[in-house]
Amino acid sequence: MPIIEARNVVKRFDGKAILNGVSLTVNEGEIASITGASGSGKTTLLRLLNRLDDPDSGRIFFHRKSIFEYDPLELRRRIGMVFQLPAIFDGTVLDNLTFAFRIRKENIDMEKVKSVLEEAGLPAEYLKKDASKLSVGEKQRLTIARAVLNNSELLLMDEPTSALDMENTLGIELLIKKLNRLERLTFIIVTHNLEQANRLGGKQLRIKDGKLTGEN
Ligand SMILES: Nc1ncnc2c1ncn2[C@@H]1O[C@H](COP(=O)(O)OP(=O)(O)O)[C@@H](O)[C@H]1O
Ligand SMILES: [Mg+2]
Repeated sequence: MPIIEARNVVKRFDGKAILNGVSLTVNEGEIASITGASGSGKTTLLRLLNRLDDPDSGRIFFHRKSIFEYDPLELRRRIGMVFQLPAIFDGTVLDNLTFAFRIRKENIDMEKVKSVLEEAGLPAEYLKKDASKLSVGEKQRLTIARAVLNNSELLLMDEPTSALDMENTLGIELLIKKLNRLERLTFIIVTHNLEQANRLGGKQLRIKDGKLTGEN
């Protein structure tokens, strides 16, 4: 079953079509990678998928329904985004994990919080830690844990390991595979690293001259 589909998507900046008829299908439970040169439109494409930006034309579906029919906040909870530099707020690890719950005034299940943090490879004692004191690799694990806790179904990752050393990079790749297996989380991972795309081993897509090619 497709979780996300794009059909003939066009996105222009200053009159230039950065995405010039992009189509994409990613199925539930898949790990898809998107490679492409710097400036080829990888970030632009990810931003369209969870409505951080809108296309000039074309259609995008999440669970077979147009993304424009979802409440944008609901869509962004279900489609999480992980950036190159981890987006961490001031406060503790716990504050970071539960921010969205406090905004929505929802109850927080501390056992669940701990188990998700540990699943992401960080010890439960970290909950009290100042998040800004974590290493970049740990911060990236924290942003992934936050998405899992929010019950995101699809995680868009924009070069999630490009600020990390090799050891942390491989660790994050293993975490992606583990969450894909255990939580049935679907991933779209933008990387400029073909070897990483090969290691991840899922559907491999490539963006060039405004078009997406690969196993589409
Ligand atoms: N908000 C914007 N305004 C104008 N140009 C933009 C904007 N966002 C991206 N671009 C341009 O679109 C092209 C693709 O950018 P981007 O999607 O960030 O590429 P990538 O992530 O593949 O490196 C670049 O030429 C960039 O300058
Ligand atoms: Mg980019």
